[in-house]
Amino acid sequence: MTDAHHTPDHDHHHDRYRAAAAHLRHALQRFPRFPLVTPGTGSHTSLPSLSADLGITLTLMRDDVGAYGGGGNKLRKLEYLLGAALDQGARTVITVGAVQSNHCRLTAAACRRAGLEPHLVLVRMVPNTTPDYVNNGNVLLDMLAGAVIHYVDTAEEARAEIATLMQTLDRPYFIPAGGSNPTGGLGYVQAVAEILDSGQHWDLVVTTLGSGGTQAGLLAGYAAAGVAQRVLGLSIGYTVAEATPIVATDTAGTLALLGSPAPAPAPWIDDRGKGDGYGIVSPAGNDAISSLIRQEGVFLDPVYTGKAMGALFSAVHDGTIRTNSRVLFLHTGGFPGLFAYQPFLTT
Ligand SMILES: Cc1ncc(COP(=O)(O)O)c(C=O)c1O
Repeated sequence: MTDAHHTPDHDHHHDRYRAAAAHLRHALQRFPRFPLVTPGTGSHTSLPSLSADLGITLTLMRDDVGAYGGGGNKLRKLEYLLGAALDQGARTVITVGAVQSNHCRLTAAACRRAGLEPHLVLVRMVPNTTPDYVNNGNVLLDMLAGAVIHYVDTAEEARAEIATLMQTLDRPYFIPAGGSNPTGGLGYVQAVAEILDSGQHWDLVVTTLGSGGTQAGLLAGYAAAGVAQRVLGLSIGYTVAEATPIVATDTAGTLALLGSPAPAPAPWIDDRGKGDGYGIVSPAGNDAISSLIRQEGVFLDPVYTGKAMGALFSAVHDGTIRTNSRVLFLHTGGFPGLFAYQPFLTT
């Protein structure tokens, strides 16, 4: 810790942030919550070597660490989603995602923890038919969890399959792709309370943007807390035009659930990291994966955090993120994806 952390300015931040965190925790109390987030989640890892190279202070928030299902950002959302499912007396859970969805794998594990039967509608939306993509990584883990897997080829087929399952399964509860809806967003309101509790000031909080719920929850949390915070979403699939209304709608939805009168802030989204699209690795992303493990000993993943970190490097280099900024990058998980993309990571 440097002297700067002990200035009166810091103490002032600390008191205000802690009061804001207490306000958020109070607002969250009335929502049913199934415990999945364990100690270690949300801890901070400084990156001294990379920070020196980039000319910023870059810190990871370890939402990749967790005791259930291999850890990842979806556990925070699933606390509130499965809390709602259990509250409604559900027996089965249906969710949907790409074949190598981390969200589906974590839903399967979390459902087992909660005594619910997981049904996964896996959409063959990524043009990848290698044996590792089809059978290894998250798919292997889904199968070990005994999830009932329903494969489909298109989004339209997925909608039809979900409708059928909602009719035929025992007391089903549906979770949308990525767990991204107003209830799932509450998990990232909780994360904001934790960040504020640490009392540290961040010039910028950065998250990978897939289905959008993580950035939406962060934006809703800071807005409900009355704390101005820049939050950058680095999209790895959607364009800015596609992602913006999704994140804005989810942010407003979570604020409404919380009963907060705060207006939803306009999301700041950058899509330079999406490359050829969702689920397709990029050279910049693969370089970022190498940098993080070789300089700092931390693995990122090929579909989300690697591509987002590649975009962050680029945003530092072109001045979008200013020199000397204090940046908190949310490590949202995805480790099993490395095994699914083996042929694309080792060439
Ligand atoms: C590892 C990982 N990082 C980031 C994300 C993106 O989070 P969100 O879908 O909330 O935008 C996901 C899921 O989509 C993920 O699995």
